[in-house]
Amino acid sequence: MREFHPLTIERIEAETKDSVRIALGVPTEFASDYGFLAGQHLPFQITVDGRKLRRTYSICSAQGELPLEIGVRVQPGGQFSEFAANDLAVGDTIEAMSPSGQFHVELDAANVKDYVGFAAGSGITPILSMIKSILTQEPNSRFILFYGNRKQSTTMFIEDLYALKNLYPERLQLNFVFSQEEQEFETMVGRLNGDKVRELYTHFGAGLRASDCFVCGPDSMIQDVTEALIDLGMDEAHVHSERFGVPRKDAKPKAAEQGVADHTTDRATVTVIMDGHKKEFDMHRDDANIVDAAADNGIELPYSCKGGVCATCRCHVREGEVTMATNYGLEPWEVEKGFVLACQSRPLSDTIVLDYDKI
Ligand code: FES
Repeated sequence: MREFHPLTIERIEAETKDSVRIALGVPTEFASDYGFLAGQHLPFQITVDGRKLRRTYSICSAQGELPLEIGVRVQPGGQFSEFAANDLAVGDTIEAMSPSGQFHVELDAANVKDYVGFAAGSGITPILSMIKSILTQEPNSRFILFYGNRKQSTTMFIEDLYALKNLYPERLQLNFVFSQEEQEFETMVGRLNGDKVRELYTHFGAGLRASDCFVCGPDSMIQDVTEALIDLGMDEAHVHSERFGVPRKDAKPKAAEQGVADHTTDRATVTVIMDGHKKEFDMHRDDANIVDAAADNGIELPYSCKGGVCATCRCHVREGEVTMATNYGLEPWEVEKGFVLACQSRPLSDTIVLDYDKI
């Protein structure tokens, strides 16, 4: 079962005026649980005033690299980010679940690819992991980055990016877009939205003919950039996105499972398969979601955001049908193959079997 383990703070330092980078050591006994793919994230848990608080942060280290590094933008009033910036110290431990997430690259040393990344603000963190991993593990691939920020001084990991550019001048192209700072080229001033992507495409032309595009930032940026890339001819299956923060009320979710009701009672039996073990509980069909219903029955299922974004609760419907309220975390192919977000799902059939072991 994916569970929380204490990771040790090996290093914590200011990244910009309002962000920190934290290096996390993994105890040897859990090391095998913390392998990750470039782009994946870690769910964290802290307790504030007796209340458990969970947040997800992307790993920005290269795939296979230890310690695991994350970048945290401090949000005013943000309980988790303020705790991370102000209360954590070297030697402390913090609870983290093993890495997860479908926003990742499949590295292959034989690949000859042009990857393009669009990152806004702290959306750079998973993309930085991809850049480092691709440059070191795919010697014939290139990465073209478009990175939007207010100004240079608020740009997270800018020094790391310049250091990578020095090491791989032919294979890494950096394009910084600032909304509150003059630049030599007008094209590089503004916000990273759909119009800007079209403008950049016109300016860079062939540079945007990517094998895969990775987009990470707030939901409005994801929506605008993704739509623009598809308009510009990019195959939707090759545009991958990961949003952070809570989506706007009017944000367009990805497809959500809508099964056909096939029930005879107002209760359903849920069987959960995890690490080869089965657990079973009953829930009312109107209960908010499967994760909360399981908790009411003393069964803890994996979750972090409970907002349909992080996909920590992803599982496969092996039998039966569920309805998923919203989905910002699963790709269309995952929904088609029967994967759901348990934090957004309720049973439609009398019995359902959820498999957490299927990848
Ligand atoms: S817990 Fe984040 S999507 Fe379900």
